[in-house]
Amino acid sequence: MKKVAVVGAGYVGLTTGAALAYLGHRVVVLDVDEARVEGLRQGVLPFFEPHLREVLALAQGRIRFTARYEEAIPQAEVVFLAVGTPPGPKGGPDLSQVQAAAEAIGRHLGEGFTVVVNKSTVPVGSGNFVEALVRRAYAQAHGGELDGRLAVASNPEFLREGQALYDSFYPDRIVVGAEDPRAVAALRELYEPVLEQSFPPPPFLPRPERMGAVPFLTTDLASAELIKYAANAFLALKISFINELAALAERVGADIREVARGIGLDSRIGPRFLQAGLGWGGSCFPKDTLALLAMGEEAGVPLPIVEAARRVNFAQRQRVVGKLQEALGTLRGRTIALLGLAFKPHTDDLRESPALELAALLLERGAFVRAHDPVALPRARREVALPLEYAETPEALLRGADAAVLATDWPEYRTWPWGSLRALFRTPLVVDARNHLDGEELLRLGYRYLGVGVPQRGSLVREVS
Ligand code: UDX
Repeated sequence: MKKVAVVGAGYVGLTTGAALAYLGHRVVVLDVDEARVEGLRQGVLPFFEPHLREVLALAQGRIRFTARYEEAIPQAEVVFLAVGTPPGPKGGPDLSQVQAAAEAIGRHLGEGFTVVVNKSTVPVGSGNFVEALVRRAYAQAHGGELDGRLAVASNPEFLREGQALYDSFYPDRIVVGAEDPRAVAALRELYEPVLEQSFPPPPFLPRPERMGAVPFLTTDLASAELIKYAANAFLALKISFINELAALAERVGADIREVARGIGLDSRIGPRFLQAGLGWGGSCFPKDTLALLAMGEEAGVPLPIVEAARRVNFAQRQRVVGKLQEALGTLRGRTIALLGLAFKPHTDDLRESPALELAALLLERGAFVRAHDPVALPRARREVALPLEYAETPEALLRGADAAVLATDWPEYRTWPWGSLRALFRTPLVVDARNHLDGEELLRLGYRYLGVGVPQRGSLVREVS
């Protein structure tokens, strides 16, 4: 059992804190937002994440929330930095929250040995930056040096929103970058139940079959920091690659889903993250690819592959607009029903959501956009500045629509009663921007159905062949 402080009660911090407390550690989660802390104490979660509430309930007694550094830091053996790193003006992340947290940690460190661990996604070199800030703040507050009582580490987080708890308990690997072996030892001990898979699985998150011991990769600070960016950029370019080929597949009469299956069976490529669609969004891929480019520029190393992945990604939204425009003649005055607003299913997160970017493009062309989302509507009403109309039910969404566009692949959209809904449309056109619906069935029901990278019925190529 270790005493842990987590600074930042956002996605990463709260999930990490909950999972560590579930595993038996004593955890204090700190956030400077007092309203958020007060809410958490009363069981109000600041975002929607499956199983977070249940895991927190099972960890009760081992996890506390505070807005005061003096209640979290002095006793902690391991302090995680999990604060926000939003994009700054030049593409690189804004590190002001990291800086403020590191300084506050330094001022409040106790007498024992402490490992300060960076979990926020920060540019290479940030570990050293944090160490210098903590040491300076400690010296200023206490008048003496920390010397050997501090070690820093980088422990990048790979969790996916919507599956954050699952990913915390059953990760593909745990990466730790540190120069001080004591930091590595502390983190190995902290994660031991996960590394050995020796904890009782939460009943609602059964251990996956074939789950063995989890690889523990220890490396230097800079490499660990770069691993996080490299992983996210690689996944982003995998998706951009399949999206680029989807456009070609459409033209030559191939089906991108078959192509993805065919290449995915090659174990060197792998089947995942090859789903063509509206492109990627969310709080990580857009920000991290941009930060990587900024890092490259600063280091004088161009990164044309990452640059191209971003370009292809943003063009993907345009392609869907193009399809609608072609099918409807014009977008001016047309009513487009948007299925999904969140950047992906099982979350209400709207940050850099492809659905919202698509909505903005449609509005620019004079369309009316009416949107539905099973979970994100309340957040959309609060946060989205676009003049969207919101619909709570399939009927309210589709009445008088000129087209429906599926933008987020929520499972429930597959089971909507498409047969009876057809009569509500002005023109029964479905653009499935995630290849998520049963296209054959929709065609049978009398819809015009357009997917991404799938052969179009009656396309030129098909007629010729
Ligand atoms: C991602 C990484 O997966 C995670 O490891 C990292 O720590 C944070 O960033 P997340 O942003 O939660 O996680 O979402 P993810 O599930 O990776 O999806 C990202 C975007 O890619 C979504 O918009 C999703 O719709 C899109 N996507 C994903 C595709 O378009 N096709 C795919 O095949 C997979």
